[in-house]
Amino acid sequence: MSSDIFAKVQSVLDSIKEASVTNSQELETFRIKYLGSKNEIKALFGEIKNVANERKKEFGQLLNDVKKAAEDKFEQFRGEIESGDVSSGAGDLDLSAPSEPLEIGSRHPVSIILNRIIRIFERIGFAVAEEREIEDDWHNFTAMNTPADHPARDMQDTFYLKDSTSQLLRTHTSSVQARIMTSQKPPIRIIAPGRVYRNETISSRSHCQFHQVEGLYIDKDVSFADLKQTLLYFAREMYGVDTEIRLRPSFFPFTEPSAEMDVYWGLNNEDDYRITKGTGWLEILGCGMVDPKVLENCGIDPEEYSGFAFGMGIERQAMLQYKITDIRQLFENDTRFLKQFSGVM
Ligand code: PHE
Repeated sequence: MSSDIFAKVQSVLDSIKEASVTNSQELETFRIKYLGSKNEIKALFGEIKNVANERKKEFGQLLNDVKKAAEDKFEQFRGEIESGDVSSGAGDLDLSAPSEPLEIGSRHPVSIILNRIIRIFERIGFAVAEEREIEDDWHNFTAMNTPADHPARDMQDTFYLKDSTSQLLRTHTSSVQARIMTSQKPPIRIIAPGRVYRNETISSRSHCQFHQVEGLYIDKDVSFADLKQTLLYFAREMYGVDTEIRLRPSFFPFTEPSAEMDVYWGLNNEDDYRITKGTGWLEILGCGMVDPKVLENCGIDPEEYSGFAFGMGIERQAMLQYKITDIRQLFENDTRFLKQFSGVM
């Protein structure tokens, strides 16, 4: 029994040694036969169970030699074809044949949603402000009225740069508020999109990196009614002309009063129940009137000026719009996933 198998292996080895190729098609045939995912040598490895115990080692070595011989031959053939020693089949080349269609990339769903948000706010006079992702403690926390003992500063939530207690990856785009207020004079009307980072366990619902859009409006006599109307306008542009919103009281260190905005999503099917937790309402963003302390920290006189701010996550909105159930898909760059968005602007 064993000797039959040895003979079989030997004959495979012989045919590899005797093989020759004259063009790239034959090279490919050789590759599939001896190195492809279902190659002949692999099948022989499976035979090891039929080899007597005392010869198993010898059998294994022989197979490794065969494998090596196939790999060496393949490299040798490939070299010959590339260097033109043998024909690459280029003689058959039809220069008039139409070329392969060029693959056009598609926009990432996060970019699609972000661009829509930007266009909506640009129409009412907001300018885009982009800022750094590596921030200092002052712009991310202190200026934003987040005291030194606030839990958000904890190492658990914030990624600090190596060996630093003051340089960090921004945890929210609110840091841009501080950057802009310390470098521009009111009136200020900006939206700040960008990536933010939090030290969170990665799961289907949360990730350690995501994107936000921040909005900031500072001028004389800005009121909560202005905030509300701006957000209503946004919600209707984004989610449809009949969209209803509601504001729930909330807390952020940098706004007073603070609120969270929900949009009415509906309760038409099981999915709606699941994503709105049975309420029909979906939380979209945090907002509020800029806390006078924040204005002061940034050198703006709160007696003269007031303003509102809001911040929203982009992945969440992309997931809602495109019914994506796992946030990780947005960061893996699997082209099979991304291709679905081709043609969407
Ligand atoms: N920065 C807040 C967050 O990350 C959102 C926010 C921005 C809230 C602006 C109020 C005003 O959750």
